[in-house]
Amino acid sequence: MRKKIVAGNWKMNLLENEVIDYIQELEQLYSFKPDDVELIIFPSSIYLDSLINLPNYDLGVGAQDCSANDNGAFTGEISASMLASFKDEDKNEINYCLVGHSERRKYHNEANELLSKKVNQLIQNDLTPVYCCGETIEERNDGELFDVIEKQLKEGVFHLSMENFKKVIIAYEPVWAIGTGVTATKEQAQEMHQFIRQKIADKYNEEIAENTSILYGGSCKPSNANELFSQPDIDGGLIGGASLKPESFIQIAQSF
Ligand code: 13P
Repeated sequence: MRKKIVAGNWKMNLLENEVIDYIQELEQLYSFKPDDVELIIFPSSIYLDSLINLPNYDLGVGAQDCSANDNGAFTGEISASMLASFKDEDKNEINYCLVGHSERRKYHNEANELLSKKVNQLIQNDLTPVYCCGETIEERNDGELFDVIEKQLKEGVFHLSMENFKKVIIAYEPVWAIGTGVTATKEQAQEMHQFIRQKIADKYNEEIAENTSILYGGSCKPSNANELFSQPDIDGGLIGGASLKPESFIQIAQSF
């Protein structure tokens, strides 16, 4: 069975003292998280160490980006092998990394070809890529939405072998719903999640499609999470703004 996941993408938010407060509050609320829901936080890289040092949690921790290269002269970049090297028996680990968030695609011109290399780096280092896809409002209005998503999947992750694709999580984040307060309706989200699952089944097989977690992202919050998460092909959320407060983040985790 595929996992239920609620993931918080902090983006470029929170100062160090705010992260300390966040962690304290999360510790107090953590017991309210349902056991069958996995919680993941994607902080700015500078805070990864604080999160993997947390005691006694099953919290997933992920980076927001990684390099498409192995290592070497790439100033400012973080390699997948560096992320994977944070392994210590007494600590949590970095297990996940976002790839292809629409903000990376838009502000850093990251195209599918580059993203496929990042996916490869993560797989080689035994980390789980959370591969983001989504259409703009113009692409939706022009009726190109399914073609756009299919291309993002084909060029970003469908080069993987069946064994390696099993490690991938998909996040559908319609660009027009990110940070806008406009959420996709449950019908719009379900329609695209079903399409993505069908494409995975066509490329690999039904079993792999059934076992792939597909998360929804875009203005998801405590007041709309339940109607989204009750759709058959929506396995959880990738949450931006509403993950910045532990209380609303945990409330979303309770929304299945
Ligand atoms: P918001 O929840 O702030 O719309 O952001 C969604 C997102 O981009 C998560 O990656």
